[in-house]
Amino acid sequence: MRVLLLGGGGREHALTWKINQDPLLSKLFVAPGNAGTARLAENVPLNPMNFEAVARFIERESIDMLVVGPEEPLVEGIRDFMEANCKRTELLIVGPGRAGAALEGSKRFAKDFMARHGIPTAAHLAVTRDNFRAGVEFLRRQPPPRVLKADGLAAGKGVLIIDDLEEAIRELQLILDGKFGKAGERVVIEEFLSGIELSVFALTDGRDYKILGSAKDYKRVGEGDSGLNTGGMGAVSPVPFADDEFNRKVEQRVIIPTIRGLQADGIPYKGFIFFGLMNVGGEPRVIEYNARLGDPETEVVIPRLSVDLLPLLVAAERGTLGQANHALDAGYRAAVMLTAGGYPGPYDKGHPIEGLDRVRDSLVFHAGAADRDGLVVTAGGRVLAVSARGDTLREALQRAYADVEKIQFKDAYYRRDIGRDLLA
Ligand code: AMP
Ligand code: GLY
Repeated sequence: MRVLLLGGGGREHALTWKINQDPLLSKLFVAPGNAGTARLAENVPLNPMNFEAVARFIERESIDMLVVGPEEPLVEGIRDFMEANCKRTELLIVGPGRAGAALEGSKRFAKDFMARHGIPTAAHLAVTRDNFRAGVEFLRRQPPPRVLKADGLAAGKGVLIIDDLEEAIRELQLILDGKFGKAGERVVIEEFLSGIELSVFALTDGRDYKILGSAKDYKRVGEGDSGLNTGGMGAVSPVPFADDEFNRKVEQRVIIPTIRGLQADGIPYKGFIFFGLMNVGGEPRVIEYNARLGDPETEVVIPRLSVDLLPLLVAAERGTLGQANHALDAGYRAAVMLTAGGYPGPYDKGHPIEGLDRVRDSLVFHAGAADRDGLVVTAGGRVLAVSARGDTLREALQRAYADVEKIQFKDAYYRRDIGRDLLA
């Protein structure tokens, strides 16, 4: 099987690592890929958003399966485009069409969907310039903090959590005035949910599903969840507090109603689905859906999959996931992200990375690293995800940190407290 994977972060390196071991695979291309994927597969300089170029590459290289890593091409309808325009008609595509990806691409769509199908989430109001007054009233009625979300994709920056009412009203106006561009033409104001956040990942063919496990992501740059938001500073899987009872609630109240809801609404959905959840006193509530796997969660979730991935992806596309073989490792995985000093603010690139050859127990996934003159150098804010396994979470964390300490580059930074809040 000839596979084209779109994307170039740690998520895609982890997927490359997994797919590369698959007996079904004959050739793997990654577009654009990174220094990590280049060691395992062939990187191709294609922009995932240039659907026309992607289609021509698929035809020329007789690609059998297209796996879409990031959200943007999904939300912009890469599946619909390929179905209509790609001459390779037997192409398998992993990822929903535009209608399904709207669960991620439009917060309002996701909220209406959840309301329609009785899926637990925060109370909300969708606001445009036309009902600004109602938005202000809704903000007044909410106890602090207030949650404002740009409706569309805003590269992870479109959510504001603000204590002060007057400031929240000002921000509402600023977003509607274009602070986040078109993504903020509509704003969803939400009830604040307090609890512990986690996510659950699944693969679905639109009728059946396989749960790939739970994960917790550490989004803030500083220890103790302080400082600015980042793309993710580390992750663990599974989440110890997501016990059988909680997982059963997630399945019964969130996963099954979501898949049934998509069916009832006539929305085909084939691909990964990411349930962003808040555990509010033992009850799961949905914060967001994503139409793809998470990053850095993939770096801990995918290595726990103890069967080959390609047969599952084929089954998702063919609608035979119910019969597919699926098993997860009973152990834990922890990933610690090594970042460039200064990130998520301004940071340097091009510093040589040393010590990769001394890593023993971990998988090192490249997020922002590049090859230059025979050296691996930093090339992004998030540089490497160091992912280790353990029979316990404590052991997984110890192994990941032992390897993190062997890797050096100028101004390297990492959080020392990944997973610590979850240790008994
Ligand atoms: P989102 O882009 O929807 O994932 O929101 C970004 C982050 O804001 C989430 O990961 C949560 O940490 C936080 N957040 C979003 N919505 C809420 C809410 N209703 N209550 C509390 N925190 C929230
Ligand atoms: N780690 C969160 C995300 O991928 O959206």
